[in-house]
Amino acid sequence: MLDVAITQELADLRPPASPFRLSRPERERLVQRSFHALYRWYTDRSQRTRNWNPDTSFDWRAYRRTHSPTVLQVLEGFYAVEQYAPDYTYELIRLVRQGYGRSQFVLRWGSEEEKHADLWRNTLLHSGQRTPEWIEAYTEELRARAWLLNWDEPIRNILYTVIQERATQLNYLNLAALARGEGKAGFEADHDLELARMAQTIAVDEAAHFAFFLAGAQLFLYYFPEETCEALLDVLKLFQMPAADLVPNYEAFTAALHDADLFGRRKYARDVVRVAIDALGVESLAALEAGVHERRNVPQEDGTLRSTQANFGVRFDVIESSLDGIFRRIGAFEHRVGLADVAPTRFERVVW
Ligand SMILES: [Fe+2]
Ligand SMILES: [Fe+2]
Repeated sequence: MLDVAITQELADLRPPASPFRLSRPERERLVQRSFHALYRWYTDRSQRTRNWNPDTSFDWRAYRRTHSPTVLQVLEGFYAVEQYAPDYTYELIRLVRQGYGRSQFVLRWGSEEEKHADLWRNTLLHSGQRTPEWIEAYTEELRARAWLLNWDEPIRNILYTVIQERATQLNYLNLAALARGEGKAGFEADHDLELARMAQTIAVDEAAHFAFFLAGAQLFLYYFPEETCEALLDVLKLFQMPAADLVPNYEAFTAALHDADLFGRRKYARDVVRVAIDALGVESLAALEAGVHERRNVPQEDGTLRSTQANFGVRFDVIESSLDGIFRRIGAFEHRVGLADVAPTRFERVVW
């Protein structure tokens, strides 16, 4: 206990260094250590507040059997995309397996995503409009091809997931609103409080996923600004929803989302990209692009190029204050459960 206190005190006295002065292994250690702490904090919350079951947490006999073909198409698409959860999990673990916290987290995340597939599958099964045989055949068709990573690189994948989780959350929140009777007119057959509760339940999970991956992306931006800014630009330019190229009737799905006013290009730009880049401290896409392209590269002693420009079109004070809040929550958790006595997690600040 005493040793831990002294170590912490000494660490507090040390002035923060620029990320460019910290060695790469040191920065990697800081990111991995933070992921592990975040994963523990996340798991506690997940188990205490979001421990639902796709069969037993809803009243399936109260779920309506009158849903419109448009909403059925939407439910089918949600199921199709979520049922690749084993592929998503497998691929991501393969990529991040060396980091303890990050790979453990992927298992936890995958266990939540598989429930989403189960719940959407149940909405088809109980709808009275898709037979069990049809669902089996459709699933077989979907499983014929595996989902593969868009990028074989951790930073791009985490940034992609930030955008994807937010987009998914928005889709489900908008379906919940439609089912509560607060969406587009003409969908009275879809007003269904049980469906609203289901969509809302999954949306809460997606919000937690978004928050976790966002914190991870902020860690990368904070400690690895150059490559993270470049990666962010790539991801924003090339983004498409997961499995869009695998689901056979994907166009009918996106058309249904549009018809029911659940998702579309404007919502994507305003409610997904804007929200994500604000949280990442990006002032504008143009500033990010300029920061990436115009930064001055100078040769280092080891022959590699390194930027000397600390402004990447990103507000690091925004990221730092967000990380500050996250580490404070982690600190309170570690204090509550006694981890603070044996292995407290600190926010290692850097100077910009
Ligand atoms: Fe999901
Ligand atoms: Fe998710």
